[in-house]
Amino acid sequence: MSDQKSDVQMEDIVSLCKRRGFIYQGSEIYGGLSGTWDYGPLGVQLKRNIMNLWWKMFVDEREDMFGVDAAILMNQKVWQASGHVDTFTDPLVECSNCKARFREDQIDTSKCPACGKTETFSEARQFNMMFKTNVGPVDNESSVSYLRPETAQGIFTNFKNVVDSFYPDLPFGIAQQGKAFRNEISPRDFVFRSREFEQMEIEYFIHPDQWEEEFTKWVALVHEWCKQLGLPEHFVHELEVPEEDRAHYSKRTIDFEFDYPIGRKELLGLAYRTDFDLKNIERVSGKSMDYRPKDGSDPFVPHVIEPSFGVERALMAVLVSAYTEDEINGEKRSYLKLPTHLAPVKVAVSPLLKNKPELVNKAREVYAVLKKEFGNVMWDDNGNIGKRYRRQDEIGTPYCVVIDFDTLNDNTVTIRNRDTTGQKRIILDELVSELS
Ligand code: GAP
Repeated sequence: MSDQKSDVQMEDIVSLCKRRGFIYQGSEIYGGLSGTWDYGPLGVQLKRNIMNLWWKMFVDEREDMFGVDAAILMNQKVWQASGHVDTFTDPLVECSNCKARFREDQIDTSKCPACGKTETFSEARQFNMMFKTNVGPVDNESSVSYLRPETAQGIFTNFKNVVDSFYPDLPFGIAQQGKAFRNEISPRDFVFRSREFEQMEIEYFIHPDQWEEEFTKWVALVHEWCKQLGLPEHFVHELEVPEEDRAHYSKRTIDFEFDYPIGRKELLGLAYRTDFDLKNIERVSGKSMDYRPKDGSDPFVPHVIEPSFGVERALMAVLVSAYTEDEINGEKRSYLKLPTHLAPVKVAVSPLLKNKPELVNKAREVYAVLKKEFGNVMWDDNGNIGKRYRRQDEIGTPYCVVIDFDTLNDNTVTIRNRDTTGQKRIILDELVSELS
């Protein structure tokens, strides 16, 4: 059995995702749309399991966290105030021979990767990555809006609302999950760099004196999150981002990187955003963002620590970590060793033979009970039992329950374990508690 994920190939993950209904190319039927991806039945479930786990860990299980779900389209002033209109750019270069465009920092500009000609690149110009649109029927400057490039601004713009409604003690956080859009110059590496993706972000509001202490706590929480995702510890690395590479709003950033098959790359970011955003909102909106401590001390604008998680990058890291190859009775097998709480299908239920109505009826009864109890339960009677096990292994189903002729006599079923491939018989009445 392999514990080394560096030998997992990106092609293995991409082809499994497509073949088994996790992720398809966006608009594939029309030749695709670069940088977009569609989630199939298993992909959407896996993605939801990751997002629900995050919500449970960072919102439901904490007293100091408030969830919001802000609109994707926001007043253009949001993006002027935040600095995105002026500075959310990547350096773009164009080949004068074939007109192909690239991000300057991703290629060797002495030779065009598309046509192979040398010395054909122009000076880089700054390309703004926000998707621009117009709101309403009039197409003019005042109707301009953008598809949000980060969910964070929907949090900052609701800071005052949440404080006015709940008056929480500092420190407290506001959390949001949702789509973000970036017109990446070169989307690449499967879902890793997409033009439409999902973020899970928290703005954790603090007194400025507390920032170092709170930052340290968030470093530990991020590692705990990675553990919950089942990522091997030695595949997660902290990169202290030097000042010249930090986003315009950050005084300290740690990029948490993961050893993907495409190399060591950013999984998520943790930044100390100071009072940059709330101060900008004050400046542009003219409204005070002061927080008034309950002890009567002087009001001040809180600072923030921002852990920013990308769902796609988490999902890719989960798949890479789970992808395992071994040999069973001399036969090669590849399977997803997903943590049970993330597996898109928790249990598969099968009648041993699908042409025996007495087995099918009994299996249907068991299926109905488990489906009601666990939700993510799959009925599987395709092919012989060996094939079903292989298929369920490949999609990461931790348990298969099989109803055979003995079930009809003694009310016992077989539970088969994905990782060990071991089987045991248990009494039907104990099935739910056993699986729980
Ligand atoms: N609010 C801060 C912010 O958005 P970021 O480092 O630009 O910071 C945060 O993005 C996270 O969003 C990244 O660590 C990554 O997980 C995810 N992300 C960013 N761009 C992405 C893209 N083009 N495709 C997929 N995920 C992306």
